[in-house]
Amino acid sequence: MGLILRTFSSSIGKKMLMAASGSFLGLFILVHLVGNSTSFLGREVFLSYAHHLHRLGFIIPIFELTMLTVFSFHIVLALLLLLENRKARPQQYAVVNSRGGRSLGSKTMIYTGVIILVFVVVHLLNFHFISRELPIADVVRNTLRKPGYAIFYIIGVLALGLHISHGFWSLFQSFGIEHPKYTSSLDRKAVIGGFVVGLVFALIPILALLVPGFLL
Ligand code: HEM
Repeated sequence: MGLILRTFSSSIGKKMLMAASGSFLGLFILVHLVGNSTSFLGREVFLSYAHHLHRLGFIIPIFELTMLTVFSFHIVLALLLLLENRKARPQQYAVVNSRGGRSLGSKTMIYTGVIILVFVVVHLLNFHFISRELPIADVVRNTLRKPGYAIFYIIGVLALGLHISHGFWSLFQSFGIEHPKYTSSLDRKAVIGGFVVGLVFALIPILALLVPGFLL
């Protein structure tokens, strides 16, 4: 109990919890990205993936509840850290040693975080809290063929890419992982990783918008 309270009350403890919860969410995003990529292989493959997913039965609600808890925890920690930083450091640092610490990703973390929150709510209303009359491939296609939704999804997933690029970088910082061989070009690797994730997700609305036969 003492350890939990101490972790929560220290800034570095909160950052570590932030990194741990972020990693869990990141893992889900990777699995979701791989699952979504079945749509590039055609309607049947995508439907088969969705069908197998739904056969997981009681694991799904347990997983959803865990996701909701971790997601909320991540947001509450972000707000606590933001308030703490504002109180402790009303002025910006004069010198910044590390590039990753002041990258576009780091400076926009709170904004991309808000965009992702709005995105996730709309996304769940689009694809999750729906009647299951139509096959999911049609639901995805019908939604993302609309230019407004396609643009909204593209902005949402690119914001996600930027957010996780900094998240990935700060994961290593928070846990003090440093190795000349693996972490020397971490800034660049994190940006490339985030960009690839955003781009692969974005391909789905782009294809739905531009390719008439997509998911048909
Ligand atoms: C173009 C991008 C995306 C597409 C086409 C897409 C598609 C889908 C579909 C079809 C489902 C419903 C699965 C089902 O119940 O059959 C779903 C669920 C979900 N998606 Fe996405 N997704 C995208 C991006 C994202 C991103 C970037 C996030 C997170 C930031 C996300 C988070 C979720 C969550 C939390 C669920 C609910 C999972 C569950 O309740 O089991 N999605 N998505």
